[in-house]
Amino acid sequence: MFIGLDLGTSGVRAVLVRPDGSVLASAESGLFADHPYPGWSEQDPANWVSAARAALVALAQRHPLAMEQVAGVGLSGQMHGAVLLDPAGVVLRPAILWNDGRSHGEAAELDAMADVRDLSGNIVFPGFTAPKLLWLARHEPEGFARVATVLLPKDYLAWWLTGEIGTEMSDAAGTAWLDVGARDWSDRLLKVGGMRRDQMPDLREGTGIVGPLRPDLAAELGLPDGVQVVAGGADNAAAACGVGALAEGDGFVSLGTSGVLFAARNGFYPDPASAVHTFCHAVPGRWYQMGVILAATDSLNWLARITGVEAATLTGELGALGAPGPMRFLPYLSGERTPHNDAAMRGAFLHLDIAQTRTDLTRAVVEGVSFALRDSLDALRATGADLPRLLAIGGGTRSRYWVELLATVLGLPLDLPEQGDFGAALGAARLAICGVTGADPEQVMTRPPIAETIDPRADLLDAYAQAHADFAASYPKLKALP
Ligand code: XUL
Repeated sequence: MFIGLDLGTSGVRAVLVRPDGSVLASAESGLFADHPYPGWSEQDPANWVSAARAALVALAQRHPLAMEQVAGVGLSGQMHGAVLLDPAGVVLRPAILWNDGRSHGEAAELDAMADVRDLSGNIVFPGFTAPKLLWLARHEPEGFARVATVLLPKDYLAWWLTGEIGTEMSDAAGTAWLDVGARDWSDRLLKVGGMRRDQMPDLREGTGIVGPLRPDLAAELGLPDGVQVVAGGADNAAAACGVGALAEGDGFVSLGTSGVLFAARNGFYPDPASAVHTFCHAVPGRWYQMGVILAATDSLNWLARITGVEAATLTGELGALGAPGPMRFLPYLSGERTPHNDAAMRGAFLHLDIAQTRTDLTRAVVEGVSFALRDSLDALRATGADLPRLLAIGGGTRSRYWVELLATVLGLPLDLPEQGDFGAALGAARLAICGVTGADPEQVMTRPPIAETIDPRADLLDAYAQAHADFAASYPKLKALP
């Protein structure tokens, strides 16, 4: 048996997986983020440990016999967060998370420096790790001076589980300190970011072993001796391992809090100007690219909060998919990454009419999010990624209307997995299977059984292409407003 442990922003999920890759059980424990000032987003790593322990204890209580058979634990987690350890391994301050925008000035500064985009393969987005440390050097210099090690969020759990410090390529790629093509820390990127190589954890591939599980934790959880902790992967890379998206042509679209359009790549084909992310995959010798939109189901949840009606009820009111509505919604509620790289932009409803109803607002929101994902698809294609079809995952795919709409807006068939969206946690367990047994990732990381394929609606393709063109044309006009 193998365990996958996924440290999300809103909770930790632990899955217990059989050697054939099927899921026996899953347990979750929730987390909150603190926002002490506008634009800040922090979590105390001690709460990650409590949540991880609670999820693992829940598995141990329900499946004690299976726990006795566990050979490996794999990790996955939210990217980009800065966990700062002093020389004694004590956490110096709350972790600064991926959705924290305080270091946007430092990000722009780093992004403009020579070689930075070329080496990192990416724009330095405000959420990435390097600008956070530059911010710390300027605003909390005493804390900065004591930073002995910077860990990424899931690597802090590896440290808790093993007492060993280490990271892996897919998470390291989101720091803006890694030479993403060479899969090594970059001395140039570290230097411009004011950091040193000795502050970086050792690098390995996602299937690499961090160390054996601490005996006291093994005893507490009813796990046997000799359980190995495997480095794992960043959330999207691990999710790709969970759905078998490893090679050129494989991809998925995720309707989660944020929206992701993911394309696995056999080589390193960066195109930072497109605001596409180019990161190392969690399996050796592969990379991936993704467009990220910051508010996907977050946009619908925002409407749900405002209207006081649950998101599922709102989408349930939409009925059957028809022609695009007359309104446009720009989903830039938290700014945008792909394709605009615009932290300052905010969202908008356009063409409001006195006759419109709540349903028109919902339709505009799901359309706007789908159009933004179309922008990401176009940006990915410009890098040479060829995606003939996509798996559709994430909470938003529970709305049939939204999936059919998205297939039509993207002009691609969308495959819906049969059941059980275990996402990154399953990918983490699969990385543990490969790490412990030496199995070939291609054999272990297979595609899930598909329940249904939703094809684009041929009769609506032109209408949605026109509506997308209108959507795309409104961004520069809104941007020009004071
Ligand atoms: C990726 C990104 C998010 C976070 C949180 O660049 O910022 O996917 O990893 O889930």
